Amino acid sequence: MTTTDTQHSWESIDAIATAVRSCTACALHNGRTNAVSGSGSPTAGILIIGEGPGFNEDQQGLPFVGRSGKLLDELLAEVPLTRDDVFITNVVKCRPPDNRDPLPDEVAACRPYLQRQMELLDPRVIVTLGRHSLLRFYPEGKISKDHGKIFAWEGRILFPLYHPAAGLRNPAIKQELQQDVLRLPEALQESIRISVNQREPEEENEEQRNETDLQLVDSLSSQTAEAENAEAQLSEPILKNETTKEQGDRQLGMF
Ligand code: URA
Ligand code: SF4
Repeated sequence: MTTTDTQHSWESIDAIATAVRSCTACALHNGRTNAVSGSGSPTAGILIIGEGPGFNEDQQGLPFVGRSGKLLDELLAEVPLTRDDVFITNVVKCRPPDNRDPLPDEVAACRPYLQRQMELLDPRVIVTLGRHSLLRFYPEGKISKDHGKIFAWEGRILFPLYHPAAGLRNPAIKQELQQDVLRLPEALQESIRISVNQREPEEENEEQRNETDLQLVDSLSSQTAEAENAEAQLSEPILKNETTKEQGDRQLGMF
């Protein structure tokens, strides 16, 4: 995976967490109790990205531990996956006051942390939760249209979902979330397929990784009640996202 905007080279996920805890790069540091860098498996093939910490996350220093987190756990359990199978983080690592949307300059200031997390984790599938997270990767995206779709993005799969908080407010959206999440094994399977075709075999253990993740896909497909349905959708073409990072920054008002 090539990197374009790395000015920082934290050596590990823990090093990023340490840096985030003392970060003052944007105004959000003023109101935080705890910065929330992220949690989960550092070898997970699936990276889940929310918007920003809420009240409970700020109190505990962990992502998605409130009501949205409970729904997220329920959704993962449908696949079935647990938090140990994924890594979860947010676009901004400190809580916006009154849970307002993060501002473009806050997203920009926090960008290097998420960027480096992606480099270190090298996830196969990026699951964005909600609009802000989707726009970080796909500025022309529209959550109402693109949720549950499987996109090819820079040698990875982008899999946008509604934000669980939206699901808590609206039962129809919760139903969409419950349907969409069942395509996660398919997204993982696609990510392995494109990695075989596209990714540079720079990692010696790439083959081993494919093997391990294929086993995970197999176990998921056989356990998922809707496996047959998911299988049927596999023939859908993968949508290509030609969007560049620059366009993404512009959409978020960084230029
Ligand atoms: N909502 C988010 O976007 N992230 C969290 O960590 C919790 C709630
Ligand atoms: Fe730093 Fe990100 Fe927190 Fe802003 S939100 S203070 S950039 S860690």
